Order: sequence, then C-alpha cells, then structure tokens
Amino acid sequence: MKSKTIKKYKICVVGAGHVGLVAAACFAKLKHEVICVDTDKQRINNLNSGKIPFYEPDLQLLVAKGVKKNLLFSINLPEAVKKSEVIFIAVGTPPLPDGSADLTAIGNVALVIAKNINSYKLVVGKSTVPVWTGKKIKETIYRYRKGKNNFDVASNPEFLREGKAIYDFFYPDRIVIGVESPRAEKILKEIYHSLKSKIVVTDINTAELIKHASNSFLAAKISFINAVSRVCDLAGADVEKLSLAMGMDKRIGKDFLNAGIGWGGFCFPKDVEAFTYISKKLGYDFKLLKEIKNINEQQGQYFVDKIKEHLWILKAKKIAILGLSFKPDTDDLRFAPSIGIIELLVNEGANLSLYDPQAMAEAKQLFKESSQIVFASDVYQAAKESDCVCFLTEWDEFKTIDFRKMKKTMNYPLIADGRNMLDKQKITKLGFEYIGIGR
Ligand code: UDX
Repeated sequence: MKSKTIKKYKICVVGAGHVGLVAAACFAKLKHEVICVDTDKQRINNLNSGKIPFYEPDLQLLVAKGVKKNLLFSINLPEAVKKSEVIFIAVGTPPLPDGSADLTAIGNVALVIAKNINSYKLVVGKSTVPVWTGKKIKETIYRYRKGKNNFDVASNPEFLREGKAIYDFFYPDRIVIGVESPRAEKILKEIYHSLKSKIVVTDINTAELIKHASNSFLAAKISFINAVSRVCDLAGADVEKLSLAMGMDKRIGKDFLNAGIGWGGFCFPKDVEAFTYISKKLGYDFKLLKEIKNINEQQGQYFVDKIKEHLWILKAKKIAILGLSFKPDTDDLRFAPSIGIIELLVNEGANLSLYDPQAMAEAKQLFKESSQIVFASDVYQAAKESDCVCFLTEWDEFKTIDFRKMKKTMNYPLIADGRNMLDKQKITKLGFEYIGIGR
C-alpha cells in the first residue's frame, strides 16, 4: 500500500533566540521550508553563514545543514509573512519590573502579520505567554489586517530545555496544540507528523496555561526538595537518600528532586513571576507560587552562611567558584544562582576565582575583573591557594577532577558542593571538609 505523503509547509519562525532558532532548525530537518526572522542583523548574517549565537549541543550542525537546503535567515518580516503559510511567533517575553511578561515584541509581530497578510495564515504562539495572549493576537490581526484574508491563531508552547533542546524537540513527552478550528489542528498535526509523539489538543487558553503551570510545577518540585533539605540539615538526615526514595514513588517521579542552590535560567524565574501576576490579574492570589520563589531566593544565602560557619571571616579569604551557568551544557548566565552567591561573597570581602567550562565569555561581561574577582583558565588554577572550592553547576568536567592534586595546592581543604554532585564519603576520605545541601 502506498503511504500517504504528508504535506511540507512554508514556515516562518519569528525570533532567532533559543526557542525560535531551535524550532526553525528542527522544522527544516523535518523537511519544511523555513524562514527564520530576527531584527538583529548581525545575528542573521552570522546564522546565514552557519554561526549560532549561543551554545547548544548539535544546533550548529543542524543550522549549517539547513542553510544549505531549506533554512533561510532574514530580517525582512513582511516578506517572510507573505511567503509563508504558517507563522510561529517565538520572540522574547522578558519580565517587566512588576513581574508581568513584556508582550511588546509579540504585539509588534502581530501588527506586521496583519499588514502583510496576503492569503490564509496560521499564526502560532510558541513563546511562553500569559493566558489570553492568543486572544489578543487574534484581535490585533483582525483589526489591522489588510483585506479580508482568513487566518487562524493557535498556541503551541515549547517545552525544550537548554542544553537538550534538539533532543527535546524531536522526542517531546507531549506536543500541546491549542486551536480554534479543524484547519489549524490539521496543519499543526501535519507539521509534527513525523515526530510520533502524543499530541494533546486543547483550546488556546488552556494551551497557554499548560506551559505556565508546567514550569511552575517543576520549580515547585525543586523548591519543595530544597525546603526539605533545610529540615534534613537540622535533623541530621540525608536529602539525597530521601529524594531517591521519594522519587521511586511513580506518582512523585525522580526528576527535579535534586536539592541545591536553587533554580535559575531565563524560564523558571520569569514564568513563576508571570504566572503569579496573571493569576492575580484574573482574580486569584496564587500564594503558593510566591512561597516557591521565596524558598528559592533563600538558598544562596543559606549556602554562603554554611561556608561562613566553616571559614568564619570571609574577608580576604580566597574562594574558587566552579560553574557559573545556571545549569550544565549551556553558557547561559541569565538568572543563574551563581550570580547571587558571587555577590554575597564579594560583599563579605572574599576574593574569588571564577571558572566555567562554557560560560567564561559571558561571565567576563557580567563580572568585571577586579581586586576581588579574577578569571581562571581551568579548575586547578581556580582552586590554587584557595580556602574553599565551591561547586555551583554540575558540569561533567568536574566529575573527573583529580582531588588529590587539587588539595595539595589549596590553602585550606574545604569543598562547598552547591549541587550535591560529589561523593561526600570519597571527598571526606581524601581529607577535605565537605559542605553539601541537606546531607
Ligand atoms: C525549563 C523547563 O525544563 C523547560 O521545559 C522549559 O521549556 C524552559 O524552562 P531550562 O530553563 O532549560 O528548562 O532548565 P531546566 O533543565 O528545567 O533547569 C532549570 C533550573 O532548575 C536550573 O537552574 C537547574 O539547575 C535547576 N534544577 C533542576 C535543580 O536545582 N534541581 C533539579 O532537580 C532540577
């Protein structure tokens, strides 16, 4: 029997950030014809010559392959709109000072779509947005569109993790599509046809809320175990064994139960804030979300207090900071827990030597070299003559450290493991003092 050929679409992805660029490159890999648009001319030029703007495993190769075939980068949104059947909006929704999401970029894109709509278009929200954004996009296009061309609006939130983005795109736990018409549903199902993942079809409001609820729940899970880790410390219990046993209960699940210095990155902090804000605006004071954030904010100070208990006065003590990015396999420092900890240590008068396997360039922009902050070229240089080595990101590189060699060069053998990533027994056997979280 002849297998049904599935239609390949002309897709425009607006925004060449983490979500947009990964989606564009992956849609191209699925053989759709893709134009990825961004307002940053330099970024677009680089991308057209196969250079990607951030570290993401395997993305460079995917982009380079796509550029040779069916992936184009452009700054011309009006033209891209005219040429496409489906437009994915993946522009930034950064946090405003009041915690709400800044939807200016989305509003602007909706206007450009309205003014350039020349045939039926499916406009899909991919950025993380507060509920009712799809409704607003629809109103905007309806009000400002030229002529009477038909369109649909849909929501297709992205759940990819930085550092695992390509894998997450091709093997998602589920694909969520929020639609209002059978036509939109059919198109989105065809776009993702070859992925063979479960597709959950909802209305647009529900799809938008699924993303905020999912990220907030994951943040809650981490804050919960971090709060439990405080009780473990007080009780002399071990949070690692505790979370292992808790996670064996299928209803709880083992993921996102690692206690540590807290969650960061560009998604959890802004999404928890934005979900709190939109819930309030709708009439519900989501106090649980506020506490999830509070617990997270306390972890950095708690970690520094533990170091102080061991070293007493931090002024002029040398502390090595290993790991700066908000998690491994990314060079992203946005809202990384390391930032708050570095600030606290600097305020205590400590001298810091910073090292990260991928985020050094970003770190040099964020923290200026000073009498208190220097940058090291590897873990051993960072640790040399230090009174404490802090692990703030669980990079694989740190798992192969020769701790004997490191100890010989240290001023005082203290290890502060902010991610519970080291074998406590092994480390203490080597003669180190060990600080963990809840163990
Ligand atoms: C997250 C969501 O996982 C993803 O679905 C969404 O699309 C974007 O936001 P990401 O920001 O890439 O992805 O990071 P993630 O891997 O979820 O980690 C977030 C933070 O939680 C990191 O700072 C990480 O170190 C921390 N974390 C994670 C813990 O502290 N403990 C854990 O057990 C798990």
